[in-house]
Amino acid sequence: MTLIVCPHCSRRHRVNIDTIPEGKTIVARCKACGHKFPVEVDKLRLQAQTHGTRPTPHTPTPEISTPEKIKPEISKPETLEPEITKPELSKPEPPELIKAARKICVSLSKGGVGKTTTSVNLGAGLALAGYRVLLVDTDTQGQSGYVLGKRTGVGLTELLTGELTPDEAIVQVRKNFWLLGGGKSLAGVKRIIDRKSFGAEWTLSEALKPLESKFDFILIDTSPGWDQLTVNVLFYATEILIPVALEVMPLHGLSEFMKSLRSIQKYRKEVSLKYVVPTFMDTRVKNPQIIYDRLKKLYPKEICKPIRYNENFSEAPSFGKTIFEFAPGCSGAVDYRELVRRVTMNDSLLQ
Ligand SMILES: Nc1ncnc2c1ncn2[C@@H]1O[C@H](COP(=O)(O)OP(=O)(O)OP(=O)(O)O)[C@@H](O)[C@H]1O
Ligand SMILES: [Mg+2]
Repeated sequence: MTLIVCPHCSRRHRVNIDTIPEGKTIVARCKACGHKFPVEVDKLRLQAQTHGTRPTPHTPTPEISTPEKIKPEISKPETLEPEITKPELSKPEPPELIKAARKICVSLSKGGVGKTTTSVNLGAGLALAGYRVLLVDTDTQGQSGYVLGKRTGVGLTELLTGELTPDEAIVQVRKNFWLLGGGKSLAGVKRIIDRKSFGAEWTLSEALKPLESKFDFILIDTSPGWDQLTVNVLFYATEILIPVALEVMPLHGLSEFMKSLRSIQKYRKEVSLKYVVPTFMDTRVKNPQIIYDRLKKLYPKEICKPIRYNENFSEAPSFGKTIFEFAPGCSGAVDYRELVRRVTMNDSLLQ
């Protein structure tokens, strides 16, 4: 028996790798948290030989002997068999085979910087590229549904209160694109979260967990300001995308947000700033370029190509259309396609 540790919840599992042919990569599913992850069996064999992590059948190992602590969920060859991946795995995976959703939150405490516009259009672009996308609207304004032309009626509130199951709470808004709607009712949910005396910051994570295996991307649009729901989002997402409006001096708001983020990172190392997306870029005036240059210096790794100012962004929502549907040839659509390529690290998408 060999030990496999789930990279998501750290639960250890015993697994018999002797029955798996050499050279195979298997996909193990942690029965504790449902997370799927690839396991290179050859590497595991080597590790077991080098580090002795693979006790002989006669050597009892206290860590794995307590049934409540480590369940031998994936120890049976039958459990692993259906998950064994064929050699094709080494080829680039088509979107539907990606194992766990990437969890990206679009956040900045400052209002009106393009959070919702970015969440909706990045989500729509990823969906057009063939990825399965869930957009979670955690804002009491519930703008995402409006921008997409769908009044969802139900959404995150019903999921968090347990009135609906995850599958019932999400609404398909486009091909490959689902929405978990926000709205006024979330104010009540915030109060419920506030009153929890233990584990309040994990409320959203627990509710969204069952949906993760069904999507390639889970994007979370956040409200302006900073409250218990924002904290919940930052305890759930692993990647942060910050839209920074180049219209007004935005750096103060950004540094305030980064301070708050660092206080979360003390408790949750997995969450990090991945993308800084300048928005409202107006090339006719000097000031946005100056701010953009400063941002590039401050965040050389995270900075993305700017989203240019484009009037179509304020018109498209009245028609319930994404920028790709409303004005596919405009600079705004071009810029969000570029952002899709950056996030997926795939330059050939949506060309
Ligand atoms: N690149 C752009 N060019 C022109 N208008 C834009 C651009 N991006 C967003 N807008 C418009 O600016 C307004 C604010 O954008 P948006 O609602 O996305 O910001 P937000 O950060 O989500 O706001 P809030 O903090 O209130 O949730 C909207 O009317 C939107 O259509
Ligand atoms: Mg918004």
